[in-house]
Amino acid sequence: MLLDGKVALVTGGSRGIGRAIAELFAAQGAKVAINYAGNVKAAEETKAAIEAAGGEALLVQANVADADAVEKMVQTVTDAFGTIDILVNNAGITRDGLLMRMKEDDFDAVINTNLKGVFHCTKTVAKLMMKKRSGHIINMASVVGLIGNAGQTNYAAAKAGVIGFTKSAAKELAARGITVNAIAPGFIETDMTASLPDKVREATLAGIPMKKLGKPEQVATAALFLATDCSSYITGQVIHVDGGMVM
Ligand SMILES: NC(=O)c1ccc[n+]([C@@H]2O[C@H](COP(=O)([O-])OP(=O)(O)OC[C@H]3O[C@@H](n4cnc5c(N)ncnc54)[C@H](OP(=O)(O)O)[C@@H]3O)[C@@H](O)[C@H]2O)c1
Repeated sequence: MLLDGKVALVTGGSRGIGRAIAELFAAQGAKVAINYAGNVKAAEETKAAIEAAGGEALLVQANVADADAVEKMVQTVTDAFGTIDILVNNAGITRDGLLMRMKEDDFDAVINTNLKGVFHCTKTVAKLMMKKRSGHIINMASVVGLIGNAGQTNYAAAKAGVIGFTKSAAKELAARGITVNAIAPGFIETDMTASLPDKVREATLAGIPMKKLGKPEQVATAALFLATDCSSYITGQVIHVDGGMVM
């Protein structure tokens, strides 16, 4: 198994892409800490699915936007599993709206969760990884951070920020044996995209060369590649998982 004996922390691991990553990593032998914000039921379902498949999982509730909560979360994970080898910064939200109507709260909420959350978690976990001189950090960006999207100035700013953050952290941590990479998914079928109007969905589909939406499992396999020594000489990169949407 590719992740035998490894410990992974997946933020936003209770649903969607994070859940698929948590399940795949556990199936590959990792002990997985599943972070979530408030949806206990989804988190428990994910943990139960991992255990039913013979894996090991721990639930850690924390708002990634809250530095103190992140410190406590990381402590809980290391108390239980001893270390953290892989950090997946996946937690994310949307608060869409056209720029002229966007409230400051909606801008701040998305920046705080999607970008500042990555800062808090990376800073805290990288301390452990620097001592070990090894680790893999994977940040969930988005094609929207590369090409923008009307109605998502907040989300695009956060995701473009995640890409800049990834490259800078990769440069800082490379000599310590830590890789930092990002994944830029396109349109993936999860709760986040479930409520999009049919018109938007059809227009998006028209712009995808593969003519289909992606599945969380297809993002998870890219994360697995970046979490193993299969990608040992790759850092500071953004892997697109988008059916060819951005090239
Ligand atoms: N779906 C797509 O098409 C797509 C495309 C590009 C990028 N992405 C990115 O991929 C990531 C996952 O997206 P998804 O579609 O799987 O989302 P999702 O189904 O809505 O799940 C979001 C996850 O993030 C958690 N979360 C939200 N706010 C949090 C916070 N403040 N602290 C800790 N956890 C928090 C949620 O926990 P609760 O269950 O407790 O709410 C949930 O586990 C996000 O970063 C998203 O921006 C998604």
